[in-house]
Amino acid sequence: MTAINAVTELSRDGEIAILTLNSPPVNALSLTVREGLFEGFKAALASDARAILLICEGATFIAGADISNLADMLKDPSVEDIQKLMDGADRPVLAAIHGTALGGGFEIALCAHFRIAVPSARLGFPEVNLGLLPGAGGTQRLPRVVGPEKALEMMTSGKPIRAAEALELGLLDELVPEGALREGAIAFLRQALADGRRLVRIRDRDDKLEAFRGKADLLEPLRQQFAARFRGQAAPGWILESVEAAVEKPFDDGLALEKQRFFQAAMSPQSAARRYYFFAERNAQKVPDAPEGTKRREIRRAGVVGAGTMGGGIAMNFANIGVPVTIVEMKQEALDHGLAVIRGNYERSRGARPEETEKRMALLQGALDIAALADCDLVIEAVFENLEVKKEVFRRLDQACKADAILASNTSFLNLDEIAAVTGRPDRVVGLHFFSPANVMPLLEVVRGKATSAETLLTALELGRRIRKTTVVSRVGPGFIANRVANPRLMETNAFLLEGLSPARVDQVLYDFGFPMGPFAMLDLVGLDVIPDPPGQTTIRSAMVAAGRRGQKGGGGFYDYDDKRNPSPSPAARQVIEDYRQAHGGKTLEVTDEEILERSLYLEANEGAKVLEEGIALRGSDIDVAMINGYGWPVDRGGPMYHADQASLEKVVGKLREFELKYGPQYKPAPLLERLAAEGKTLTGKG
Ligand code: 3HC
Ligand code: NAI
Repeated sequence: MTAINAVTELSRDGEIAILTLNSPPVNALSLTVREGLFEGFKAALASDARAILLICEGATFIAGADISNLADMLKDPSVEDIQKLMDGADRPVLAAIHGTALGGGFEIALCAHFRIAVPSARLGFPEVNLGLLPGAGGTQRLPRVVGPEKALEMMTSGKPIRAAEALELGLLDELVPEGALREGAIAFLRQALADGRRLVRIRDRDDKLEAFRGKADLLEPLRQQFAARFRGQAAPGWILESVEAAVEKPFDDGLALEKQRFFQAAMSPQSAARRYYFFAERNAQKVPDAPEGTKRREIRRAGVVGAGTMGGGIAMNFANIGVPVTIVEMKQEALDHGLAVIRGNYERSRGARPEETEKRMALLQGALDIAALADCDLVIEAVFENLEVKKEVFRRLDQACKADAILASNTSFLNLDEIAAVTGRPDRVVGLHFFSPANVMPLLEVVRGKATSAETLLTALELGRRIRKTTVVSRVGPGFIANRVANPRLMETNAFLLEGLSPARVDQVLYDFGFPMGPFAMLDLVGLDVIPDPPGQTTIRSAMVAAGRRGQKGGGGFYDYDDKRNPSPSPAARQVIEDYRQAHGGKTLEVTDEEILERSLYLEANEGAKVLEEGIALRGSDIDVAMINGYGWPVDRGGPMYHADQASLEKVVGKLREFELKYGPQYKPAPLLERLAAEGKTLTGKG
């Protein structure tokens, strides 16, 4: 056994050279890893080995480029240098895959003559999620194996496929049992040598492309689909262009185009924002003050109190992952109604199969007495938003539930510490703030009370991951993170209308920035009666409600809606707005699109700075994760804090001061923002 460098070693099993890579956590293609692979292949090729096996140690095969340092990809040896050695090999090369072969890792595997994997392995090109495209031949090699259409689907969805599907598609030659990868690989190579199997390079294959050659119209429908599906995203277009080159051009020309587009993508603000988000999401899971080795409790059975809008959706999350849930209501009717709504949701969901619905419904058990929650490991309360009601429920839960059960509240605005204080186990009380609809929205704010223990907090974070939510930790404070940060922008909608702007214009500006919808369309969606007026004020929203316009759910809102919920401009809404303007001193101001945008977004960054300063959020990047997952902030823009950093805090503070003079004190810059701007620092700790 010879160490090639710190992360690779070369060993022999008879006539087979085995190149082993071990660079935790995910064997990403850092410069050291590339050097190890390059020198390792060179040494193996220089030896008398008759075949070469590439295999990884640790959790996974190579998971792609090192995205913490993409610029390092420019240094030699490049991934392509390694691939050239593999492509040029005069003896069989086999890649043995476990875990995930992603991005550059998959691209290296595609340069082996053969690939085998264990059944749990997954293979894919997630680059698109990072605003990138495969940049080491993936766009040229994948279509040569699976055809251009399937290749496009894999590369633009970014979703890895399972080993069984990869085998069917011809991306793998064989599956071997879990835990037997190395032996399986050696046996495979021995057999290949014995059979004298022909060594075919993917780059030389043409069969899957022929049908498409010279027929640009075969891919045309996809081009049109992409424009709608990936609004504003550049990478899918570059992927399509590269795949077209794979079809029409010689291999090396296609490769050159792909490389050019890859570096263009890597330099783009979109990709920078998405890579920032990748690490932001992972950092949000870290609790720096949790003692090393803190245990996480296992949640085998869950309980939910309240089968209303939120309780039902929350219960679905558990049924979806096979965890049984007991739902407690006050009256049989409410319980029946709640369960019927859940069933309806399952039946209406896309591709729903009746047996799946039944399987999930069977995990839900209704009850009218909190005593039914006695053996739950976790209970989430989702009753009316009323402190006294919640305190009473928690008193009863404390008595009824196992001593070590975790009690959680889904409260949006109430003080979790006061709720926890009525129990004898405040260390096992936590907030689990879901967003509506709770079975759909990805964000889960985990609210850490004064007394919440590290074990409870880490258990809640782990649970969030299990139910496939993106979690962010918030301290106790009004509106926690996402609702609080979004609120000033939603309040400013009233000012925009008073200034004579139309809902459609404001919505268009935010839609064009990348939000799925503007603030007025969003208010119509959630219901105009959901957000109360600020104390002592009336708003156009409540005037709409008074005029019988509650949004999409009743009477239309800022827009009228047809029976398919398509919006159209509303003369009736215009009249409500006009009347309100007359009564409340409406003006007609010239406001540019840029100003609409800056006022909206900098208000959020400013509120975010307050949330950070108060310690409600631990990191600026946590706020971005919350806004992207809770309020549809476009990930291509990185979130309000990152976006403000990119604009420069000096500019943001300058604009806020200008708006403060022009529009009022709601724009007053937060002290933390002023300080960071003066010191040339950032909200996310990134330049
Ligand atoms: N580069 C650098 N660090 C990475 C990384 C990467 N490609 N992938 C993961 N990491 C880090 C994570 O930040 C995390 O670090 P931390 O423990 O300090 O927070 C650690 O590895 C473990 O990652 P996860 O917490 O995500 O672990 P999971 O087990 O849940 O998931 C994974 C593992 C499926 C590999 C997941 O990390 C993942 O999807 N990684 C990204 C893969 C990717 O996007 N590859 C394509 C890169 S671009 C490319 O290859 C370009 C090429 O075409 C030229
Ligand atoms: P809801 O009114 O739809 O449902 C509440 C349910 O709790 C009702 O079915 C009621 O019968 C039941 N209930 C009341 N007291 C009970 C008791 N003592 N025992 C058993 N059941 C009881 O309310 P919704 O919207 O589901 O809200 C629930 C909680 O979730 C509130 O704290 C709310 O602030 C919070 N929340 C709501 C969001 C939303 O968008 N609706 C979003 C995030 C949090």
